[in-house]
Amino acid sequence: MPLNKDSLPNTFLVATVLCLFCAFVVSAASVTLRPLQLENAQKDRRNNILQVSGFTPEEIEESGGIKKVFESRFDVEIIDLDTGQDAEADCQAAMNKAKDKEVNLGEEYDQLWASKLNPDKGLSEKLDKKTDVCGIKSREKFSEVFIMKSSAGEPELYVFPVRGNGLWSLMQGYLAVKPDFQTVVGLTFYQQAETPGLGGEVQNPDWKALWKDKKIYDDGEVKLAVIKGNKAGNAYGVDALSGATITSNGVTNMIDFWMGDKGFGPYINEMKKQDSSQIKTEAAGGNNVK
Ligand SMILES: Cc1cc2nc3c(=O)[nH]c(=O)nc-3n(C[C@H](O)[C@H](O)[C@H](O)COP(=O)(O)O)c2cc1C
Repeated sequence: MPLNKDSLPNTFLVATVLCLFCAFVVSAASVTLRPLQLENAQKDRRNNILQVSGFTPEEIEESGGIKKVFESRFDVEIIDLDTGQDAEADCQAAMNKAKDKEVNLGEEYDQLWASKLNPDKGLSEKLDKKTDVCGIKSREKFSEVFIMKSSAGEPELYVFPVRGNGLWSLMQGYLAVKPDFQTVVGLTFYQQAETPGLGGEVQNPDWKALWKDKKIYDDGEVKLAVIKGNKAGNAYGVDALSGATITSNGVTNMIDFWMGDKGFGPYINEMKKQDSSQIKTEAAGGNNVK
C-alpha cells in the first residue's frame, strides 16, 4: 500500500522527528558553546576592570591583550563581606558543597548566582527592606575584590563589583578607588538595560568621566551621590542624568549600599587597620634601630 504523505499520523511523525532533531541541535550548541560563552563573559568583565582602572584600549592592545594585562597587574581576593577578611577557603568550601564537586573558584564563582541561592547554602544572605536600598533583595556572602599592584607589589587601586536597580534593569558594574578608599578612579557598567538616551546614559563616557576624583566618605558616612542640580566643584556630587532621575537615584543607592556596612565597608576598615598597624610596626622598627 503506498504511504499517504499527507495522512495525520505521518504529519505528526515528521513534526516529532523535526522537533527532536532541532532540540538536539540547540542543546548540543548550548553545551559546546558554554565554555566559550563563559570565557567571553570573563574577558568582557576583565576589560571593564582594566578600563575603569584607567587603561585605554590601545594600551591594553599594545601590552599583549586583556588576559595578559589583567593577570600581570591585578590580584583577585575573595573576601567575606561581613567581616571584610580574606575568605577564599570558606568560599571554596561553600561552593564545593553547593555544587557537590570540587569547583574552580576563579572560573565558576558567580556572585550574582550565589546571591540568589537559599541562605542555607552558606553563600548568600537575605537583606531586610531598610538595608536593601538598591533593591537587590539578597546579597552574596563572598565577593571578589580586584587589586591593581605596582611592580613593587604596592596596591595602586582597588576595584569593587557593584550592582543595583535602575528603572528597568539591574545595573552591574565596577567602582575603582584609590588606596585611600576615599577617592574615586572611575565607575563603569558592564550590564544594564536602561533606556538608551535616558538612563542608558550611565554608559556615556562624558558622564562616567564626572566620577573621577570624587570623594566617597564624609565623617565615616557615604556622601557621594548623583545629584539633580549638583553644584560645580562639589567633591561629593555627580550631575544627575537628565530625564532619568530614577536611574540616577539607583546609582546613588548602589554607591551607598556597596560602600557602606553591608557592602565593602568592613573590608575597607580592615584594610585601613592593617595599613595603620604596618605604619606603627615600621615606626617601632625605626625606633629600635635608633
Ligand atoms: C519610554 C520611557 C523611557 C524611560 N526611561 C527611563 C530610564 O531609563 N531611566 C529613568 O530614570 N527614567 C526613565 N524614564 C522617565 C521616568 O519615567 C521618569 O519620568 C523620570 O525618571 C523622571 O526624571 P526627571 O525628573 O529627570 O524628568 C522613561 C520614560 C519613558 C516614557
